[in-house]
Amino acid sequence: MKTLSPRSFATVTDLFHRVSGIRLGPQKQALVAGRLQKLADESGERDLDRYVERLSSGHAPAEEMTRLVDRLTTNETYFFREPQHFEDLARRAGAAPAGEYTVWSAASSSGEEAYSIAMVLAESRGSTHWQVIGTDLSTTVVDAARRGLYPLDRARLTPPPLLKRHCLKGTGEYAGQLLVSRELRERVSFRVANLMQPLPKDLPAFDVIFLRNVLIYFETDAKAAIVRRVIERLKPGGVLYTGHAESLSMLGLPLRALAPAVHVAA
Ligand SMILES: C[S@@+](CC[C@H](N)C(=O)[O-])C[C@H]1O[C@@H](n2cnc3c(N)ncnc32)[C@H](O)[C@@H]1O
Repeated sequence: MKTLSPRSFATVTDLFHRVSGIRLGPQKQALVAGRLQKLADESGERDLDRYVERLSSGHAPAEEMTRLVDRLTTNETYFFREPQHFEDLARRAGAAPAGEYTVWSAASSSGEEAYSIAMVLAESRGSTHWQVIGTDLSTTVVDAARRGLYPLDRARLTPPPLLKRHCLKGTGEYAGQLLVSRELRERVSFRVANLMQPLPKDLPAFDVIFLRNVLIYFETDAKAAIVRRVIERLKPGGVLYTGHAESLSMLGLPLRALAPAVHVAA
């Protein structure tokens, strides 16, 4: 593997921080070099330091920056991750009054979280009016989310009856994969949105927001700013789920904890 000088590491992590708000520390040097290498090779520039110089000079095409952000974000996710939230959602959605029910998977990555929510809503709200919106910074994962095609092992925590009712098991060239049913895909929409910037104005007000396993990457101020921006989109009494490893205490936010990683606007 080619090397990345400390100067180029600082340049590229500053660029990435400016766009995403995520600060990658020195312990990520090898990881960053590894992920940059493929981008550099694809762009025809084999020297990593020269590649970084081109990116930071402003002469690189805009898509090159998008590819950098895609490559440096951590997109790991799977269906029914942290299952307690889905059990909680099933209870809430089942008990909520009839009418529109909207859920946002903010930082949805490749869509497994949004489709897990949709399976729960299909069960608890049936064919009534409900919708799920997924957003993410990375265009690559948003495109993957729209396809709804996944390796089967991402669904290992999915309750088997839900898997059977809402997903199709691939055969032939699709063996080992699952496709989310068309009915479910039609209820879930995905778009690119950066949580560090003002949110799209046409996002509706939400009954529930999932903001999980993304805050962990931000410094305190950015984390607090993101949560404030996101909870402005909650309906009164709406609920916010965060990842179980992500603490919101000490941030002075107008939220009250209902259970671990379950919050309601105070
Ligand atoms: C580890 S995944 C979490 C996926 C899912 N929420 C879960 O819990 O499994 C983190 C996602 O946050 C996204 N992300 C990082 N910074 C972001 C930002 N500033 N705005 C929107 N999404 C961001 C990444 O692209 C990535 O897909």
